[in-house]
Amino acid sequence: VTGTEGRVAGRVAAMRPSMLRELVAAAGTRPLLTLAGGVPPPEAFPFDALADAAGQLLASGDAGVLQYAPTEGDPGLVDLLVADVERRVGITGAGGRVVVTAGSQQALDLVAKVLLDPGDVAVVECPTYVGALRAIAAYEPRIVGVPVDADGMDVDALSQMLDDGLRPKLCYVVANFSNPSGATLSAKRRCRLAALGAEHGFLVIEDDPYGQLRFRGEDVPAIAAEDGADVLYLGSFSKTVAPGLRVGYAVAPPWLVRPLVVAKQATDLTSSSFNQRLVAALLETPGWLDRHVTGLRRLYGERASALAVAMDTHLAGRLAPNRPDGGMFTWAAITDGPVDAVTLAAACMAHDVAIVPGTEFAVDGGFERDVRLSFSVLSPAELDEAMRRVAAAFDELLG
Ligand SMILES: Cc1ncc(COP(=O)(O)O)c(C=O)c1O
Repeated sequence: VTGTEGRVAGRVAAMRPSMLRELVAAAGTRPLLTLAGGVPPPEAFPFDALADAAGQLLASGDAGVLQYAPTEGDPGLVDLLVADVERRVGITGAGGRVVVTAGSQQALDLVAKVLLDPGDVAVVECPTYVGALRAIAAYEPRIVGVPVDADGMDVDALSQMLDDGLRPKLCYVVANFSNPSGATLSAKRRCRLAALGAEHGFLVIEDDPYGQLRFRGEDVPAIAAEDGADVLYLGSFSKTVAPGLRVGYAVAPPWLVRPLVVAKQATDLTSSSFNQRLVAALLETPGWLDRHVTGLRRLYGERASALAVAMDTHLAGRLAPNRPDGGMFTWAAITDGPVDAVTLAAACMAHDVAIVPGTEFAVDGGFERDVRLSFSVLSPAELDEAMRRVAAAFDELLG
């Protein structure tokens, strides 16, 4: 952020703008095929179910639908969430530990606000979700990245850092189908991470917006379900219902509930009562969410496969993708020529296709030869055309 010297706080100077915004300005003339954002496509939105629920809520004349809700969340929704995280995630005793938030993004801001003094250490998996990096960085900690491999965060590397004297206050992971790497943290590493948190006194933040979107393999038990784990579990309805509702939630360890609630009071008093009631209405309808999510898994599974086939057809030897078991992202290494990811993304944009360079997800540099591709938005035919355009961008760069 420039041109604001002396007017805005020092921490603003360190805030990085989104590279994607700048790339979009360089788009060509055809409709843009975007693999940039991890967003649901319009066909994933449950318009009818939401219209029914909204009509009924407003017709009910119940003032609670439009009144301020308790900061912790609408009591009806909170009860449903307590039951849902027990059934689905294996978190027992969540009563009194739930805080409904404006998406999990708000929970990330709140937890960073209540835990971090300037100079404290925050550990993140690396590459990591940019929104988490930005939320955490605003409180001026020292952010330390731990490398990720096919089994998620390298917990042995973290253990070594702890042995070498690192004293983090928190450790952020997306254990299921991570953004951006697509990797899933192995069961063994989850246990180990929970144990390291307990032993060294840091909070594990388990951000799980994608866990329900598994299209291959078996669920892995949540870190928050480990006995004695000091974990902040974050859930969201952004990817399973609609991000525009801005309904997410945190299940916090008992000591952290009150600070989060007090911080949220200062931020926005409460999340939207109406939207919380909408989500509650969907959760209350027997079998509705399970059916809806089954459809989403099929949709994203088909698209992930279509992207893999398209990359194999058009980009073999140029991009080496991984094979996520769920979620919305494939991470791919550039394997051809002296091409870096930022240059490739810019060349792709000139061919009207948007991908994100790996550098966006870095803590201290790196990922110059990696890119993130989201398969959530485009149809199989569009994914094929998009990879054809990426191949044309490569042809141009390599002469
Ligand atoms: C890993 C991760 N966490 C959190 C979020 C924010 O989601 P929400 O809409 O719930 O704020 C996203 C959104 O893309 C995400 O990918």
